Amino acid sequence: NLNSVCLKKSILITAGPTIEPIDPVRYISNHSSGKMGFALAEMASKLGYKVFLVSGPVNLKHSNSIERINITTADEMLSEVKKLIQCQKIDVFIGCAAIADFKPVNYHEQKIKKINSADQTSKKTEEMTLTLTKNPDILRYVANLDIQRPFTVGFCAETQNLEENAKLKLINKKLDLICANDVSKKEQGFNSDQNSVTLYWGNKQKELDLASKEKIAMGILNHIQEIIPKKI
Ligand code: PMT
Repeated sequence: NLNSVCLKKSILITAGPTIEPIDPVRYISNHSSGKMGFALAEMASKLGYKVFLVSGPVNLKHSNSIERINITTADEMLSEVKKLIQCQKIDVFIGCAAIADFKPVNYHEQKIKKINSADQTSKKTEEMTLTLTKNPDILRYVANLDIQRPFTVGFCAETQNLEENAKLKLINKKLDLICANDVSKKEQGFNSDQNSVTLYWGNKQKELDLASKEKIAMGILNHIQEIIPKKI
């Protein structure tokens, strides 16, 4: 039905970790499994959104209705997100990916050797320094767009001072909504099947208590429907 296709809202969700290569055998990454982002994508599809999912390397399946783009690094994720926002009319953006904040300044074409000095007793062989540089902030880029800016939702993953950090990110990155999760708790967060989040927007907040990531995803999406300006 042409009418429902035209009226269909589109949502862009990032998920999973990014991988920042050091050399052909080593990389910097984190524990994100992609489960939270994929749950958001599945639930958004159920709610009738056209779903774009930009995902780092994860081992998860998804429905055919979801358009998935695979990336490895933060730079690749940014370039795919930019392309989608330029070419599709994206109504809602949710940054659920755990993007490596830093990447190595130099990629070594060959495997870095453990010992590069003949003197194995020298301190030089016991330490190595890796110089890192900041990755682009994808969420900040989307939230600060002047044109074609989607309703922008971020996540905040912390092991301490969750509320304070979430409120700072909400304001500093100019987000419409942030979903704060405590990743120090064993039963939730990275790689678990459950999560609990506190939503912060404006000067309001709402708790979504411990539940399956699908249930939490539905709670977040329902909340977005409630607070999103009606013109979007
Ligand atoms: O994947 P799972 O195993 O299911 O775990 C889910 C999760 C814990 C990864 C997820 O719920 C979550 O919290 N995702 C965000 C992780 C994160 O990187 O949080 P942060 O507080 O470091 O970053 C804040 C926000 O900025 C996030 O929306 C992040 O996507 C975004 N960001 C961060 C750095 C960067 N360079 N660019 C970004 O866009």
